[in-house]
Amino acid sequence: LKIGSFQTESFVDFTKPENVKAYQDALNKVRQELGKTVPLIINGERIFTEEKMTSLNPCDTQEVVGYSAKATTEHAEKALQGAWEAYSWWKNWSMDARARILVKAAKLLRERRHEFNALMTLEAGKNYAEADVETAEAIDFLEYYARQADKYAHPAETYPYPGEENELHWIPLGVGVSISPWNFPLAIFAGMLTAPIVVGNTIIVKPAEDTSLIAAKFIDLLIEAGMPAGVVQFLPGVGEEVGDYLVKHPRTRFITFTGSRSVGLYIHAEAAKVLKGQKWIKRTIMELGGKDALIVDETADLESAAAAAVQSAFGFNGQKCSAMSRLILVDAIHDEVLNKFVERTRALKVGNAEENSNVTAVVNDESFEKIQKYIEIGKTEGKLETGGEADGSKGYFIQPTIFSGVDAQARIAQEEVFGPFVAVIRARDFDHALEIANSTEYGLTGGVFSGVRARLEKARAEFEVGNLYFNRKITGALVGVQPFGGYNMSGTDSKAGGPDYLSNFLQLKTVTERF
Ligand code: NAD
Ligand code: ALA
Repeated sequence: LKIGSFQTESFVDFTKPENVKAYQDALNKVRQELGKTVPLIINGERIFTEEKMTSLNPCDTQEVVGYSAKATTEHAEKALQGAWEAYSWWKNWSMDARARILVKAAKLLRERRHEFNALMTLEAGKNYAEADVETAEAIDFLEYYARQADKYAHPAETYPYPGEENELHWIPLGVGVSISPWNFPLAIFAGMLTAPIVVGNTIIVKPAEDTSLIAAKFIDLLIEAGMPAGVVQFLPGVGEEVGDYLVKHPRTRFITFTGSRSVGLYIHAEAAKVLKGQKWIKRTIMELGGKDALIVDETADLESAAAAAVQSAFGFNGQKCSAMSRLILVDAIHDEVLNKFVERTRALKVGNAEENSNVTAVVNDESFEKIQKYIEIGKTEGKLETGGEADGSKGYFIQPTIFSGVDAQARIAQEEVFGPFVAVIRARDFDHALEIANSTEYGLTGGVFSGVRARLEKARAEFEVGNLYFNRKITGALVGVQPFGGYNMSGTDSKAGGPDYLSNFLQLKTVTERF
């Protein structure tokens, strides 16, 4: 299979009226289908359950976007058994044959881009650009993993040895469970399931409760692209119920998880327990939270730094693991950059995602409450510069909020808030700023705005993050270009969209024959 060279998908330009119209047409189309129920899919069978989960529009909580069937532990058991049956033949498909399904799915997704975008607008509250870059990322994951798979179709290299043939084969692990978050309901969901299957595993997917509809739409697309029954078992349901059951099951071979630190560490610990009948050490691939910092020093382009800070902090309302939640300003430019940052933030339009507002509603009532709790904590730990207000009358709206004068060890400087919320911290100088940046247990993304080579080099070596950016925003990693994943409590640094990502789902077997 010659798939050609990989290139990231370009983004739609929403300054062009025809693209805005295409988006709005898609919104109207998706609107006509509101209120439908998506089923579980086990061994190709579509199963509707008596109990359902409801997806609400976060920008208008009176609006039901749709319903999803809710899997029970009996469904999880059936899905697991079916996935092992499917594994017995799927592992023998050629790498190319499996990869072709991903390439076909990428083509279909490209054709239906605005439809997927529009559903993300309604179900997750993404504005046009945020939804569109996500669909582009999902396409990239499909194309990239399809191309990377070929590398594992051939034995890895070993040194020659006289009189012997030595081969190092890549082989899949078996049946895994993929548990994903709501904040990238298409891209992360798609990447976390297609990577394991393209190299021969089968998988049970448990999407986040808030975004089961977008997940179901992607599964339908995969089936249309030729995914055989049983390879991907679709199990929307409650994390603590079906998710937990699968994590603790002795026949689960691996768990790929993206979500919060607390749930990730819990799963990691449970997966380490050996159960009766279990033959293997379960593998876990964990991508967790962040408390991402951007440093600005006195030699930086201050206007660009303020603009990048706003983009990094408030894109999709700060609901990205990569989002800047700490802005560390060296003393000499502290007030100037803070003023620019606050001024730009005040200019953001807060409103409905359908109207393409800059800042939209946060995902659900739990987040809405949690962020407000942190605003109250912030009032005791810093000075409220802007925002701080919430309006739940129509949707879960929170004004972009900035606290200054925050101590590096304060709760709002240490704990992940996951909303439009920034703690600004003053540093004496660049070295102090870097020390502060490294003073959390997280290590996902980070950035430095500076004109001094030696400082950039120091950060290059010592800033403890999986994704480090200089003189630009700290969000929006591109597949294949900026492999993504964090250090320390931010995860196992598996590097989604990176050249070795697929090896997370493979094991090696050395075979030696003496002649
Ligand atoms: P979450 O941890 O609440 O939920 C993630 C998933 O875990 C959901 O599908 C949920 O149903 C499931 N789950 C919950 N409890 C479970 C249990 N006991 N057993 C099995 N599954 C369970 O996270 P979220 O709110 O959906 O997502 C936001 C979090 O994800 C943030 O912390 C963010 O930083 C993180 N995130 C990290 C990355 C990354 O690449 N590092 C990317 C995106 C999001
Ligand atoms: N990959 C996403 C980003 O870089 C989370 O923003």
